[in-house]
Amino acid sequence: MASALARRSACAAASCAARTLLTKTAATALRSAGSISGLRAISAWSKVPLGPPDAILGITEAYKADKFDEKINLGVGAYRDDAGQPYVLPSVKEAELRLLTQLLDKEYAGITGVPTFTKLAAQLAYSPSCPALQEDRIVITQSISGTGALRIGGEFLAKWYPYGKTIYVPTPTWANHGAVFRDSGLEVKSYRYYDKATISLDLDGMLEDIEAAPVNSVILLHACAHNPTGVDPTPEQWRKISEIVKKRDHFVFFDMAYQGFASGDTDRDAYALRYFVEQGHQLVLSQSFAKNMGLYGERVGAFSMVVHSAEEKKRVDSQLKIIVRPMYSNPPIHGARIAAEVLSDVGLYKQWLVEVKGMAERIIKMRHLLKQHLEELGSTRNWSHITSQIGMFCYTGLTPEQVDTLRTEYSVYMTRDGRISVAGITTKNVKRLAESIHAVTK
Ligand SMILES: Cc1ncc(COP(=O)(O)O)c(C=O)c1O
Repeated sequence: MASALARRSACAAASCAARTLLTKTAATALRSAGSISGLRAISAWSKVPLGPPDAILGITEAYKADKFDEKINLGVGAYRDDAGQPYVLPSVKEAELRLLTQLLDKEYAGITGVPTFTKLAAQLAYSPSCPALQEDRIVITQSISGTGALRIGGEFLAKWYPYGKTIYVPTPTWANHGAVFRDSGLEVKSYRYYDKATISLDLDGMLEDIEAAPVNSVILLHACAHNPTGVDPTPEQWRKISEIVKKRDHFVFFDMAYQGFASGDTDRDAYALRYFVEQGHQLVLSQSFAKNMGLYGERVGAFSMVVHSAEEKKRVDSQLKIIVRPMYSNPPIHGARIAAEVLSDVGLYKQWLVEVKGMAERIIKMRHLLKQHLEELGSTRNWSHITSQIGMFCYTGLTPEQVDTLRTEYSVYMTRDGRISVAGITTKNVKRLAESIHAVTK
């Protein structure tokens, strides 16, 4: 369409050129249409290869094209209510309404964002009583949600981490981690995390790999609700992980995209982070408010670093600003103001905690219902991992072939690794989902 238009305007320009001198605009049109000799005939982008489509967006496209009334989409990583609809939290709606009535200005935030938001985000993650916060040893910047925080962290480590440029991520991990860190200038290696045979944490493998990594390596840990497996270490296992990390002088990068969403309790979900801080690890943290506040498209997040002293904080903060400034200058203000309103108003904050718990509980309920239906249908498989896993995702243990059959024969959509977004299950579709899964696993 665009090239047809360009060609048409190029032809019109060509006939004009026969009569008059070629104008600058016409020359540009001719060049892009590539139709006149003497001007560049090949597009500058002719050698750009077609990239692979995004795996998850591809599922959504196929789901949308499916005409079957009872189709089920378990690919999307966003919360849905029991009617299968996107959910705007009432506390978030109320905060937004309050902001609108204040008719605030739209001036730029500083490079590191809206200060009331970042202060409250740090308190939510580390707890207001965290000594590092009280000693003014936590550097924080607002970010373009969790992805942006990971990117800032990746860039900072690539530029300033003195002991190497490698980051270790779990196998498997969130599909975007590799690209974010590679594009930041880090080399990405992996450590064992998940045992396919037992559909649970491969703690021994994980500890062995972390111990075998060169001293001072950077280790990425999902703080809670591991994506895609839904398998989290227990508090006791976290303590073992901390021990090995300490023994090897490793450096931890926590990715916390689901605080509150895993257990329904924001403090409980921050256990690993807070324990590591308490143990004296110097670490960095990526936070996202996409899931726990449902602020997906508002892109609200934060990147923070626990450093040695208030003096060090000043130096590190100045370098974070130098990284952020040429990337996007400063972050958007609207979502951060909403999050700050929710976190700062006692009533709204309490309401939000109840709503986060409500989302987590609906997910936990759907896990139980799915397992119960599979058992009632007579499935002889062990489905206990459905309820022992945590957070939005569940690694079902289904094979890629079974996933394909579910899609083609039953209009049930999920990623080929067998991951389902439990948020896509409702009281209405859970029985049909169980029947479909049972049919392909008999
Ligand atoms: C583990 C993990 N990290 C980070 C993100 C980043 O999400 P966002 O950029 O939407 O905050 C996600 C989103 O799915 C995630 O699952």
